[in-house]
Amino acid sequence: MNGKKRTLVTCALPYANGPVHIGHLAGVYVPADIYVRYLRMRGEDVLYVCGSDEHGVPITIKAREQGCSPQDIVDRYHKLIRDSFSGLGINFDIYGRTSSAVHAEGASEFFRKLYDDGKFVTRESEQYYDPEAQTFLADRYIVGTCPKCGNEGAYGDQCEKCGSTLSPEELINPRSKLSGAAPIKKKTTHWYLPLQDYEQWLREWILDGHKEWRTNVYGQVKSWLDGGLQPRAVTRDLDWGVPVPVEGAEGKVLYVWFDAPIGYISNTRELLPQSWEKWWKSEDTRLVHFIGKDNIVFHCIVFPSMLKAYGDGYILPENVPANEFLNLEGDKISTSRGWAVWAHEFLKDFPGKEDVMRYVLTANAPQTADNDFSWKDFQTRNNSELVAVFGNFVNRAVVLTHKYFGGKVPPCGPLLDVDKEVIAEIPALKASMEKNLETYRFREALKDAMGIARAGNKYISDTEPWKVAKTDLDRTATILNISMQICADLAVAFEPFTPFAAERLRNMLKVGFFAGSDHRKGERQTENTYVEGEGRALHTGVTSENGIVLDWELLGRPQILPAGHEIGEAELLFAKIEDDQIQLQLDKLEAIRAERAAREKAEAAKKVALQKEECTFEDFEKMDIRTATVLEAERVPKTDKLLRLTIDTGIDRRVIVSGIAEFYSPEDMVGKQICILANLKPRVIRGIESHGMILMAKQGDGKMRFITPQELVSNGAQVG
Ligand code: MF3
Ligand code: ZN
Repeated sequence: MNGKKRTLVTCALPYANGPVHIGHLAGVYVPADIYVRYLRMRGEDVLYVCGSDEHGVPITIKAREQGCSPQDIVDRYHKLIRDSFSGLGINFDIYGRTSSAVHAEGASEFFRKLYDDGKFVTRESEQYYDPEAQTFLADRYIVGTCPKCGNEGAYGDQCEKCGSTLSPEELINPRSKLSGAAPIKKKTTHWYLPLQDYEQWLREWILDGHKEWRTNVYGQVKSWLDGGLQPRAVTRDLDWGVPVPVEGAEGKVLYVWFDAPIGYISNTRELLPQSWEKWWKSEDTRLVHFIGKDNIVFHCIVFPSMLKAYGDGYILPENVPANEFLNLEGDKISTSRGWAVWAHEFLKDFPGKEDVMRYVLTANAPQTADNDFSWKDFQTRNNSELVAVFGNFVNRAVVLTHKYFGGKVPPCGPLLDVDKEVIAEIPALKASMEKNLETYRFREALKDAMGIARAGNKYISDTEPWKVAKTDLDRTATILNISMQICADLAVAFEPFTPFAAERLRNMLKVGFFAGSDHRKGERQTENTYVEGEGRALHTGVTSENGIVLDWELLGRPQILPAGHEIGEAELLFAKIEDDQIQLQLDKLEAIRAERAAREKAEAAKKVALQKEECTFEDFEKMDIRTATVLEAERVPKTDKLLRLTIDTGIDRRVIVSGIAEFYSPEDMVGKQICILANLKPRVIRGIESHGMILMAKQGDGKMRFITPQELVSNGAQVG
């Protein structure tokens, strides 16, 4: 493709401070995996690199919260994430980690070269410092009240309640998360990459040279560039990360966004210590970064500038297909609020349904706009697409081939129009699929693949071989021959999307498969795949006894399975998902929602309204506040909120209409001593004249309680 010899595909390195969820999968890993499987089937030499991003402040915070070391945290999640990926059929050539020795060395060397070449500038700035813990504080380590919404637990970089981006300066009453002390400002020096020096070059490379990039990516890059680039700090005062390898930098580490992308290179070096350079420094390599939209600036501006500054022949990405976000049941996925479907939990709850998740996430891929995942849709797509169309077609074709022809592909006789039509559809769908896959439109490519299944399903329904068999076995043979060819097409076409089902189908058809190059090492290698040596691409996949090996080129060709080829027993490709399984997931989410609502309510209750504008004593004196006792109380008919109270004010008996019915029943009020604003101008409320107002204390969440003297006093006593 594009005349290049090889393709290096990277997936954003997930932070090892939590499990991955369906948003990650839909945005990055499933599309990348589809792309890699496709290229490999076409015989392209592909290296597929990912790993854990194990630095950064959130990891240190999590470790503190859990009373363990940052290394403990990343060890735990690295394993969990790696296993979740492989459980979903996402098998990288290497899944490395940025806490590895290879990476520390590589990232350190990278920094050092830029430093030696004078590519950095230093700047002194004032940073927040915890005088008790005697350490600088990352923005995340400063908490205070959000100036926008009053949330008392806002972080120095963001308020998670209202979503505002903040700086520590903006927080009201800031305190250190470490000691609770008020942070002070202290001078510190850091290294910066002067991004503005690369601006012109970036403009030419991306804005002029890559107009074909997705509009969301192109647009974000353009707006960053138009806004003017600034020097960007590449170091931090922190004790978790790759130490800054220069003298006088004690207590400083590389900023996580400086070291993490270098992780792509480190992981390649770890896998291929001798030959990694050809993947990174050869014009014969195409580099493609799969990421989510929040990573665009780092992969299109910062990392390329780092590589450019480094020089030495590093190549730049040919494309950066970034996705938008996936929502869950209409709400933004949030790790901190627990609103997510976690990959590892899904694998536990739905064994054997890995393909279904891959399928649904691709069908709903947030390619050009945010999209939504819902469990109902998951069930529907499984039951009415995978089961009812794809699975149903294959099942009918295989079962009937056994029934009428003893499990041997029957011969193909003369073709009728209906046969010619379905046969012609497949190469067209294949061509469309290729175009879509090569331009990163995976949702559309999946539609094409599904188009083949739909065509097959319609063909077998229209031609009704089970009826034809009663009178014309030759015609039945032709129909089932064609149906079997379509089954073989599906085994190829669905390999990128639903690899487990594709494999089951190939086993049913008793055919081998050309899965393309694979650079993995270790226990997953079989005798068919290469084990020794490096960078040598060999072929994986099953070969069959009878010599039929499916590959991409065969898709749509006539007579892939020759007459007489023996197939295996029918096996269900997909099983129906029942309502109770879906309900379980909905209940799980509902519980999270309810818990969050309760927590938010408790927080709201504590929220204190800002103090009102100053008033004078004279202002206050104008208000005649008195004690009074409720004599009678009744609801105001046809209202939810209003009580009509008759009270003894000591001065007189009067009626007050009060909006407290939500909080007190009439019986609650009778006989109670309260305080009223006695000289409030009478108002008519629902046809009743109200003479005054009851004083209530009102909480942040709206709950109200009436004010009562601490001991009984006579009615009409003045309050002030
Ligand atoms: N950990 C980052 C995230 O989840 C992605 C890092 S990608 C890399 O947003 F390029 F820095 F590795
Ligand atoms: Zn806020």
